[in-house]
Amino acid sequence: MAIEKKSPEAIKPHKIQVSFDDTLPKHWFGGNAFLTHLLNTFTAIFPDAERYFVRWSKKALANVTDPKIKKDIQGFIGQETMHANQHEKLWETLRAQGYDLEPVLWIVQKLGFNWVESILPDKVNYAAVAGFEHFTAMFGEMYFENPELMNTMHTEMRRLFEWHAAEEIEHKAVAFDQLQSIDDSYFLRTGVMNVAVVLLYLVAFGNTFYFMAQDGSLFNPKEWINIYEGFFGKHDFARKSFFKFIEYYKPNFHPWDNQNYHLAESTLKAYEKEAS
Ligand SMILES: [Fe+2]
Ligand SMILES: [Fe+2]
Repeated sequence: MAIEKKSPEAIKPHKIQVSFDDTLPKHWFGGNAFLTHLLNTFTAIFPDAERYFVRWSKKALANVTDPKIKKDIQGFIGQETMHANQHEKLWETLRAQGYDLEPVLWIVQKLGFNWVESILPDKVNYAAVAGFEHFTAMFGEMYFENPELMNTMHTEMRRLFEWHAAEEIEHKAVAFDQLQSIDDSYFLRTGVMNVAVVLLYLVAFGNTFYFMAQDGSLFNPKEWINIYEGFFGKHDFARKSFFKFIEYYKPNFHPWDNQNYHLAESTLKAYEKEAS
């Protein structure tokens, strides 16, 4: 299928190093416990999830013949490996702040990637990688569409999530093209997405509330007003994310139907300039 004209020319990892210490506030996202813990949950999930993407992309390299897709997969592997390593650095800081990460890590590592992954057919794993990448692309887009809100993050956390968001936009089509080149069945892609969305939302929101319970913010009315404002009020994330999500179900969907590379481009260029 024709993809070249729409995708970035080359996908390369942009190296950054983040560091955190005990000055990181517990509610580092503008004092908003829910958003802080939603992204803390992503930080708990990302390293194993991204290593899972890398495992399957390395496997796909052996079967993919299109040179452009092959090159993109190599860039994707480099980017996801770095995301996993940078997010994992935060685990110790979160533990030092008193949070228990073990249940979510157990679900993701043992249940998800030691057990379920190994019993699923290969094509289902490739479809799962493409499906999860649709969510990270949505996250990347929402990051850049809401600069005012994102600017309320602690500076170092913003650096981490901005870098991650930009690269997620840049490589958003790689896992999709990888899947299409192996099996372009609509029913495989959307059938796996039906399950992935339920699992992802259960784990993401379940663990967000678990983190909130751990620091006593779960029953704070102010936090529930924040949640309402975030999803249905001021930021309208429930409606906006639903329409981004549902795009995936269009029969001829391709991630670059949504030409949003410009959102990430200047950020990525700044990293390149820094490195040169
Ligand atoms: Fe990533
Ligand atoms: Fe990604």
